[in-house]
Parts: sequence; C-alpha cells; structure tokens
Amino acid sequence: MKLNVAVLPGDGVGPEVTREAVRVLRAVSDFCGYDFRFEESPIGGGASVEFGSPYPDQTRERCLASSAVLLGAVGGPQFDSLTDKLRPEAGLLALRHSLGCFANLRPAIAFEPISDCSPLRPERILGANLIIVRELLGGLYFGEPRAIDAASKSAWNTMRYSEQEIERVARVAFKLAEKRRKKLVSVDKANVLETSRLWRRVVTRVAAEFPDVALEHALVDSFAMNVITYPTRYDVVLTENLFGDILSDETAVIAGSLGMLPSASIGGKVDLYEPIHGSAPDIAGKGIANPIGAIGSAAMLLRHTAKLHAEADSIEVAIEAVLKSGMRTADLLPAAERSKAVSTEVMGKRIAECTVEALNSRMAYFAV
Ligand code: IPM
Ligand code: MN
Repeated sequence: MKLNVAVLPGDGVGPEVTREAVRVLRAVSDFCGYDFRFEESPIGGGASVEFGSPYPDQTRERCLASSAVLLGAVGGPQFDSLTDKLRPEAGLLALRHSLGCFANLRPAIAFEPISDCSPLRPERILGANLIIVRELLGGLYFGEPRAIDAASKSAWNTMRYSEQEIERVARVAFKLAEKRRKKLVSVDKANVLETSRLWRRVVTRVAAEFPDVALEHALVDSFAMNVITYPTRYDVVLTENLFGDILSDETAVIAGSLGMLPSASIGGKVDLYEPIHGSAPDIAGKGIANPIGAIGSAAMLLRHTAKLHAEADSIEVAIEAVLKSGMRTADLLPAAERSKAVSTEVMGKRIAECTVEALNSRMAYFAV
C-alpha cells in the first residue's frame, strides 16, 4: 500500500497538530508495512510572507500530484494587514477550489466520558453522533460578483447555487446516510432565500434515489437551536457552505472542544483532510494544542482515500481509549484542573501507541 501525502502545516498551531497526525500515520505505516510518504509544503500567512502567495504554485503542484492533502490551519492576527489576495484564508479557499473537493464531512461525536468543560448537560449529549456534510465550493464563499466599492460606500457578495452543485453534494450525503442511521436533515433558509428554495427542490428530488433514507428539511435558525438542544436526534446534516461553516463550530460544543473535530473534503481530484479548528494564535508555539482533530482527520484520510477501514477504525478506537483513560489536553479541562493537562506531543504519542495496540489486538483476534 503506497500513499503520498502532501502535508501543509500552515500557521499557528497547524505545525504542532499535523506533526502528531503524521506520527500516528507513520505508526500505522510501520506496523502494517505500508509505504506512506509525507512531503511538506507552505500554505497560509507564512507562505504569503515568505513566497508572496498564500498558496504558492509549487504547493499546488505538489498537492495535485499527491494521494491526499493533510492540512493544519491557516491565519493569525499578524496577517490581518495583508491585502485580500495575500490573506491566509484566500490560500485555503484556493486550495479547496484547485482540488475540487466539494463535499466537506465534519463529524461531531460526544466521546465518553463526556467532557466536563462542555456547557451542555451530559444526559443531553450522551450518544450524540452526527455528521455535517457542508457544500464547500459554492454559495457566498465563491459567488460573483463580489466587491467593496469605495465610491458607493457599500459592499456585496453573491449567493449562487446551480442544480448540479446541489445534486452532487446531496448524493454524497444520502450515500453516507444509507451507511449510517438512515436519517438526513437538509438545512436551508427556504422561507427567505431563492438559493434555498432551489436547494430544497433538488434535495427532495435526489431523495427519491434513496428510498431507505428519511429526509427532513429544517430552517437554519431553528436548526441551530435544535441541534444543540437535542443533538442525539440527528444523523446526517446536509447544508450549504456558510451555514455549514457556522453550524460545524456550533456542533464542536457537543464534542467538548473545537480541537476535537476532524474533517474530510472529498469528491474532487484529490481529497483534503484538516481539523475544523483554526490556527489558535493565542496558544501557538506552546505545545498545548489538542491534536485530536488533526489525528481524527488522518483516520478519515485512511478511510476515504486509502480505503484502509480497519486502520482508520484503529485510530478512532485509540482516540476513544486515550480519552477514556482520562488523558486530556488543556482545552478539555475546566480552568481549575488545567495543571493536569498533557502536551500536544504526549497526547499524540499516546494515541500512536494505542493505535498500534488496537491494530495488534485486531490481528490477534483474526488469528484466533
Ligand atoms: C473552516 C474555516 C475556513 C472556512 C476559513 C479559515 C476560510 O473557518 O474551515 O471552517 O470558512 O471555511
Ligand atoms: Mn469555520
């Protein structure tokens, strides 16, 4: 099994968390005798400062020639003065666009024991396991025209969706629902927006191809309330780009911390894996960031790109086991208990060890 992974550490805590994700992937590769290769390339604000582009051409070429891309994070206040084209976020959007990955999967799971620092009552979130399927290449993020106009002292963006863009992401979501609990909620703002009325029509049409999946439509404002009030009600959540961006940060509360959530962006030429959190400039360089979102993204890479399901499961089993053992990074602890926190590296190394243990016991199980 050969895998060429383009690693884009990026800004802030990005390098710290991707290092741990690569550590876990190497552990899998070594244990199973696979040939995983990792090559780093610049992206984000650091790349703008050093190479004059947040997504340099060499990075693009490297990514397009890889089996998958593993990204850390981009951004930081030191880049706020850069022009629009040099902004770190522009690099991330250009990366997504060039890869063509239009379906962004963002699972949110309430691992046990429920994090004590979640503001939600444990009995409400216990058993919650949902996945947001966010459309990633359309809507307000990419719609034209867009501008800030000094003369008229106004600015505008365009929300635009074609039937084809909605159809292809809806199919990804329905296929996923078929393999899960067969429930799909499509989130829109059809009482106000034309794009949402089209969205609803197309999703309803696609649903006919998946008779086993129960489809429900929800308006984004009430869904934002319901998903946090009754998180166990939901299975697959399908939505457009901006709604998905906002709702996925909200569902991080279910998992206990933004640092927990992984993501996979699929459907294009090359798949992209990244934790949903940002560059966390306030804690960057301190070695205390939670690497679980990045490591979970590595597990998704093995599942979706490499089709190594047992290996992906082993990483997820390891994450769960390490959390069960009580090991916590600072973001998962209430302020009074932060002195018990472990570093990014300690957490990463422990998950790598447990992954190998999980692979080992799996082999022992099959040998019996
Ligand atoms: C995310 C981020 C990005 C987005 C930013 C950094 C461009 O918030 O991946 O959720 O808005 O998609
Ligand atoms: Mn976001």
